Amino acid sequence: MKYDTILFDLDGTLTESGAGITRSAAYAFEKLGIPVPEQAILDRFVGPPLVASFMEYAGLDEAGAIRATELYRERYSTIGWRENRLYPGMAPLLKALKARGAYLGIASAKPELFVRRIAEHFGFDQYFDAIVGITMENTNADKVALLRQALPGAYDPARTAMVGDRKFDMAAAKKLNVAAVGVAFGYGSREELEESGADEIADSVAELRALLLPGEPAERGAFITFEGADGCGKSTQMKLAADYLSERGWEVVSSREPGGCPSAEAIRDVVLDVRFKGMSPECEALLYAAARAEHVRRVILPALEEGKIVLCDRYLDSSYAYQARGRELGDDFIRQINRAALAAAPDRTLLFAGDRGVTARRMRAGGSLDRIESERDDFFDRVDRAFEELAAAEPGRILKIDSDRSIEEIFADVRAALDALIG
Ligand code: ADP
Ligand code: TYD
Repeated sequence: MKYDTILFDLDGTLTESGAGITRSAAYAFEKLGIPVPEQAILDRFVGPPLVASFMEYAGLDEAGAIRATELYRERYSTIGWRENRLYPGMAPLLKALKARGAYLGIASAKPELFVRRIAEHFGFDQYFDAIVGITMENTNADKVALLRQALPGAYDPARTAMVGDRKFDMAAAKKLNVAAVGVAFGYGSREELEESGADEIADSVAELRALLLPGEPAERGAFITFEGADGCGKSTQMKLAADYLSERGWEVVSSREPGGCPSAEAIRDVVLDVRFKGMSPECEALLYAAARAEHVRRVILPALEEGKIVLCDRYLDSSYAYQARGRELGDDFIRQINRAALAAAPDRTLLFAGDRGVTARRMRAGGSLDRIESERDDFFDRVDRAFEELAAAEPGRILKIDSDRSIEEIFADVRAALDALIG
């Protein structure tokens, strides 16, 4: 680790917050009856103190700019602050720095109330030792004072860095004699960072990671599978999970089985095609295993090695449920032909289970049935029972979730499981 004390700016450094800020600035212009400037001008509101920006771009005097800031906050405090997300890859970076014992702080020119609310909402408050912003009354934020406040009592300037996207951040770091690390993926340009004395510049979160943790590869990501009977609602929950994790700064790869890469998708077309009704159970099981072998090697393992979170709609458990038990091929056969999947065992499996009548209705509502969905009831009874048995045999990995509830209620359980696994 190159620095053991690292302060971060918030907007444009940790979070991609432009939409909420620029829309709230546009709202203030509208309310004041001043023509809303073009997007390139609105973008300049991200980062610097708002009063200064309103004076510069709305042609207001200080009293007018303070009024504009109040109007801005009308929208920002209700809607704008949520129009935000951590940059992809930022969560694993913060987690890795924290795990190595770094002191991490946030020094933002935003009211501290909002900084804390955002950090809590997007789940990154847990990584920070200090969270510092301005007070609601103090409209002229002095970045040097904010940095001083965010620093620990004792620190070694040679091992301390300020990471930010604008000239204000670089200038404040220089004043305090700590390293000025610029991020060019935020709202300032590389030129702005160079001109304001950045010691180092990262063009992406991956570059920032390489700079803060030189020579240290990414930690393995996490593999989460979504299982259950056809129509249980797992695809709906997986989409919500992907959005939730992305907002919180994780790089997410969403995939499905059979499929997930071109060759495996081609196998999917064959295995689900109703023209092949009556396909032998062995052929069916081998096709699922063949698609999986390719998917594991081409998609799942590379993504996990890059520290990404892989979400997969069905995986090996489906082969145990549908082919080993549903088709009665037996577990041993499925284990043998799925050896490639051993290299990628799920860290967590969410099994959505509920009343068969409810899931079957949802399945039928989806339109025409594929070859598997057209099976008889006794087949699905065996599949349901198999999922129950798999969950009972591996309670540490498989979490059973009641799917006979509203989408929001189910997602509360999914979210809790994600938080427990990833933090
Ligand atoms: P699966 O992936 O298990 O086949 P989907 O997520 O595609 O299931 O959901 C099947 C259908 O049921 C979709 O039309 C979806 O909008 C609907 N659905 C999903 N979850 C629920 C729920 N909890 N309550 C009511 N309808 C739901
Ligand atoms: P899909 O349309 O993805 O169904 P769902 O939305 O219900 O997941 O089709 C996948 C079908 O393939 C599904 O009926 C379950 C079946 N399947 C198996 O039989 N074995 C397997 O190993 C996998 C991955 C899926």
